[in-house]
Amino acid sequence: ADFTARLREIIAEHLPLEGPLLPILHAVQAEWGHVPEAAVPVIANALNLGRAEVHGVVTFYHDFRHVPAGRTVVKVCAAEACQAQGGRDLVQATLKAFGLKDYGTTLDGKVTVEPIYCLGLCACGPAALVGDRLLGRATAQSIGEEVLS
Ligand code: FES
Repeated sequence: ADFTARLREIIAEHLPLEGPLLPILHAVQAEWGHVPEAAVPVIANALNLGRAEVHGVVTFYHDFRHVPAGRTVVKVCAAEACQAQGGRDLVQATLKAFGLKDYGTTLDGKVTVEPIYCLGLCACGPAALVGDRLLGRATAQSIGEEVLS
């Protein structure tokens, strides 16, 4: 369906809510897997907000993506307990294993690596989430195997 038409539908559905911006952004992300840049001015207009304001909200909340995620999303815990158990090294080793310099998505679109703040597995850190699978005492290797499986 036409992008703008669908977007207007989503906006209309949520407009009656008090504080409709976040629900609209969540719905947009559920529909397209990310918040496309092209959606920002349309949403801003409908809500009588500035583009910068809407853009700021999208940027502020780590839940929102600017670009589509890779087929598998790897979240490596970057919170304190895991950092104390080698989390920083795990992040570096994981990025390297996928040929990434920084958090983000591989060029082939297969994998996205991003930080997450506590997965509730602090006792067996460093922890990671690969798709919907939790990994304790994660290594770049166990993460890589999980991505392939
Ligand atoms: Fe990493 Fe809690 S700090 S799982």
